[in-house]
Amino acid sequence: MTLKKIVGIDLGTDSTRVYLRRAGIVVDEPSIVAFNNRTNRIIAVGLEAKRMMSRTPTHITAIRSIVHGIVGDFDMAREMLQKLLQNKNLPWSWMTEVALSVPTNLTEVERKSFEDLVREAGAGQVYLVEQPLLAALGSGLDIYQPTAYLVVDIGAGTTDMAVVSMNGIVISKRLKIAGNHFNNEIIRAVRDEMKLHIGEPTAEEIKIGVGSAIPQEERLEIMVRGRDVASGLPRELTVKDVQVRTWLVRSLKLILESVRDLVEETPPELVGDVHKNGIYICGGGSLLRGIDELLEREIGVEVKVVEDPLHCVARGAGMIADDMKTYQPILNTFSSLGIGDESE
Ligand SMILES: Nc1ncnc2c1ncn2[C@@H]1O[C@H](COP(=O)(O)OP(=O)(O)OP(=O)(O)O)[C@@H](O)[C@H]1O
Ligand SMILES: [Mg+2]
Repeated sequence: MTLKKIVGIDLGTDSTRVYLRRAGIVVDEPSIVAFNNRTNRIIAVGLEAKRMMSRTPTHITAIRSIVHGIVGDFDMAREMLQKLLQNKNLPWSWMTEVALSVPTNLTEVERKSFEDLVREAGAGQVYLVEQPLLAALGSGLDIYQPTAYLVVDIGAGTTDMAVVSMNGIVISKRLKIAGNHFNNEIIRAVRDEMKLHIGEPTAEEIKIGVGSAIPQEERLEIMVRGRDVASGLPRELTVKDVQVRTWLVRSLKLILESVRDLVEETPPELVGDVHKNGIYICGGGSLLRGIDELLEREIGVEVKVVEDPLHCVARGAGMIADDMKTYQPILNTFSSLGIGDESE
């Protein structure tokens, strides 16, 4: 029995996924913490905490510990990670080594915060790897080759996009427009246009149930319940796909513009590669109906949704956990920037 445990972690705004070396993804839970605000003691994390969200008595608060891909409340995030790493699916060990996915373009302080978080949650060794590299790896792209891939990860809190080539990131962008923002736009529009207050879970139901980026062959509609803005009483109404499409136009436009800017700033040779290889999209937002076609139409490059887009970053982190030696060059990029920790 080995005493060293090696894991790859995707600490997402929506979900935390832990890949255990040679075992696969063994933890996949919401990045949520519920705590007693009188004693500050954690009551639940993950799925259990999510069930408490919006239904808690006044002395219990459930919060997201990762906000727009960055550590929100450090103590809460640390305790959440600690508890998730003590999951029954993970063996106990003397030493835990972690390959952690982090967003691109972090400040030194933000990087340090990620590193401290994972250490304080119990890891002996931490390697930070930028998310688009992991997304590309986890999508099966051979990022070592001298060709370029454009990867766009539309998550819950951020859309992280980068051109990756030869084990590194050539150029990247990150914006705070992603799945959570789509939900907020839906909440706002249902309130303003349909005079109904709805909560985030309902907005998410609408988005997943009938949301689309471009018109679909099939007309979709969904019945939702909420509180009437004027009377304050419960009411139900039907939301149609065409309405949701108009509510999401602005957010999708911002994502499109960023992808276009990134392509425009990419060196010419690499743009040629991107044109040849296509654009790879992943993250939960890539599951929005027609988002691939919209991007393809607007950018003029083939767009592919990767297989199992919700887990590609965790899979990429897992590939590193499985074979640290092969992926040393990726870890070294961070070390040379003074971020990784090479000490044994
Ligand atoms: N079928 C779907 N259609 C549209 N959106 C979806 C669908 N399934 C999931 N999502 C959205 O995807 C988001 C979650 O994606 P993901 O798990 O990639 O985020 P994350 O990695 O936790 O966040 P981030 O990378 O931004 O920190 C949520 O906003 C969710 O509503
Ligand atoms: Mg993510």
